[in-house]
Amino acid sequence: MTRSAVVPNHIAIVMDGNGRWASMRFLPRLAGHKQGVSSLKRCVKACAQRGVSILSVFAFSSENWQRPADEVSGLMDLLASAIGSEVPQLERDGVRLYFVGNRSDLSQNVVKGLEKAEAATAHNSRLVLNVCFNYGGRWDIAQAAQALCTQGVPITEASLGAALALAHVPDPDLFIRTGGEQRISNFLLWQAAYSEMYFSDDLWPEFDESSLDRAIEAYGRRERRFGKVSSQLRVSEASQASRAD
Ligand code: FPP
Repeated sequence: MTRSAVVPNHIAIVMDGNGRWASMRFLPRLAGHKQGVSSLKRCVKACAQRGVSILSVFAFSSENWQRPADEVSGLMDLLASAIGSEVPQLERDGVRLYFVGNRSDLSQNVVKGLEKAEAATAHNSRLVLNVCFNYGGRWDIAQAAQALCTQGVPITEASLGAALALAHVPDPDLFIRTGGEQRISNFLLWQAAYSEMYFSDDLWPEFDESSLDRAIEAYGRRERRFGKVSSQLRVSEASQASRAD
């Protein structure tokens, strides 16, 4: 990666393509998900090395319950075993873990594991890793609206945003989807309003450091206008630079 690359503060990733990666090798889909965990570990390390502060990944969607029962139970077991094997290293690497999603459908054992992992890494601040599990953007907006209604709080952009499950982090700057598909699939519907979208043909298990660098470089070439026009951005950049002098 070039030294001058603009590094996004928050990257969100739809880790798609595990099943196809496995099928191409005549392996069961779960082997692809296991390889997906290895790819996630590599990505966490690479993000931390490049100065990314927050990484949010879509590990299990509200809709994934509709997959074959053995794949669903395999993903639940994979979550539990990944927590068991990876948390000590994540803790040493300065990663703070958050599990984001609806916990009410998860088993008591899985929920205890998530809570333990969050507590074990709560003192870390090098990289925040949000593992979105049993998460859906629509679920998130609905639960936030319900919570505000129950508390009698008027619904505004600010109050709703603060009640969302990812309120502990700013919105993603860069939204990556691997696996060649170009859709959001109910991930971070609210938070991705101004994220830069990047679609990679790499299947998730193949997404490596150079794939990440290509995504970051593409991000650096984008002009983020947030509803303004280019000339306004140049004026505000110039005034920021003169204040810094
Ligand atoms: C989508 O690929 C991937 C998932 C539904 C699961 C993502 C999970 C991981 C990357 C492993 C990390 C998981 C945990 C539990 C920490 P797909 O299965 O839809 O792939 P396909 O489109 O090729 O079928």
